[in-house]
Amino acid sequence: MRAVDLIAAKRDGREHDAGEIRFLVDGLLDGSVAPEQGAAWCMAVIFRGLADREIDALCAAMVGSGEVVDLLGAGIDAVDKHSTGGVGDKVTLALTPLVAACGVPVAKMSGRGLGHTGGTLDKLEAIPGYRIALTIPAFIEQVREVGCAVVAQTPELVPADALLYALRDVTATVPAPGLIATSVMSKKLAAGAAAMVLDVKVGDGAFCATVADARELARLMHGLGTRAGRRVVCEITRMDAPLGNTVGNALEVAEAFDVLRGAAPADLTAVVRSSAVTLLELSHLRLDRTEAERRVDEAVSSGSALATARRWIAAQGGDPRVVDAPWDVMERAPVVVAVRADRAGFVQRVGALAVGLAAMRLGAGRATKADAIDHAVGIVLAVHPGDEVAIGETLATIHARTAEAAAAAADELRAAIAIGGERVTPPPVLVERI
Ligand code: URA
Repeated sequence: MRAVDLIAAKRDGREHDAGEIRFLVDGLLDGSVAPEQGAAWCMAVIFRGLADREIDALCAAMVGSGEVVDLLGAGIDAVDKHSTGGVGDKVTLALTPLVAACGVPVAKMSGRGLGHTGGTLDKLEAIPGYRIALTIPAFIEQVREVGCAVVAQTPELVPADALLYALRDVTATVPAPGLIATSVMSKKLAAGAAAMVLDVKVGDGAFCATVADARELARLMHGLGTRAGRRVVCEITRMDAPLGNTVGNALEVAEAFDVLRGAAPADLTAVVRSSAVTLLELSHLRLDRTEAERRVDEAVSSGSALATARRWIAAQGGDPRVVDAPWDVMERAPVVVAVRADRAGFVQRVGALAVGLAAMRLGAGRATKADAIDHAVGIVLAVHPGDEVAIGETLATIHARTAEAAAAAADELRAAIAIGGERVTPPPVLVERI
């Protein structure tokens, strides 16, 4: 078998068998298939796509490229969640202790942010002392002891994805549904949870621009998970506007814990609650939706979700005071500037992509993988689509390192927040559950 023939086959629209897919994945890992051949194959996939059978074979080859966490073998029937990425998406930080407080173990391996999207690991590193790197035995032990853990994916887990993703990232070959679905699901399957919620974002700040695209990605990921024997629900949620009020690492950590005291914005609360309830339905408890809703609401009202959050953060070396008094322990940006409305009307749009890029340029995200993050900077939105605003009213607050950075972000935000005369009603954040 030769890689060049497989590239030609995909270029000409032919389907690979499982052995051919394994040959490519194994060859990329052992160096017998050159990176440029891997990149050329990915580009052929962008144009020709992958059939469901090829997607299954690719996912299996990727999972088989490294270690697999055997949570069930360790007696832990855990749940996991994944988001395809968005702006202001701090759902994992709230969902993890909330679900754990309901008696369901949460075992989550997370990634970093790139471009306009944030990453859970970056947000967690805003908490002084928080350790993202645990060994797999320590990860399993913490899930058993504390009920949850959120860690960095270990290098031993799906090394084929790290390699393929790095190739895709620099060759404009990320957005192929089959490549995204296998990349996400190989990591989810290897991380060992028996049940999971996949939050598939749709909108201008997401991978999927249309609901049809999101449905297709959800269908592929759902199929990969269920055929591997996992219990999976996909929730398609809107990412036209940032989720919640905050974009930026420390700011998002503080807001996430507000969800657990019932004090967070409605859109963020809705996504966290919906995913938590779905995870309780899927979990070993197999609750019906009404009972799951009751338990989730009780975990918030009783304070048990907050208590679990403190235990989780402390177990990973972080300062647990971050849950109750975030600004006693996390750094605040030195320059805080308000952006005010220059006309009265109704907020038509708060562009997720534009706000995400403004936050990235403030230093909250990375333009390239090598960039460092400034955990303190970011944006706090004061308005959402549909809100009525008066002239001079605060639209957003910018938290910046310098006055120059704040001024540049202010210009970007004025362009991102559209005010018009028409009264608008934004659609619900949850589009559908699959
Ligand atoms: N997230 C991933 O983990 N992989 C992709 O390909 C895209 C998003």
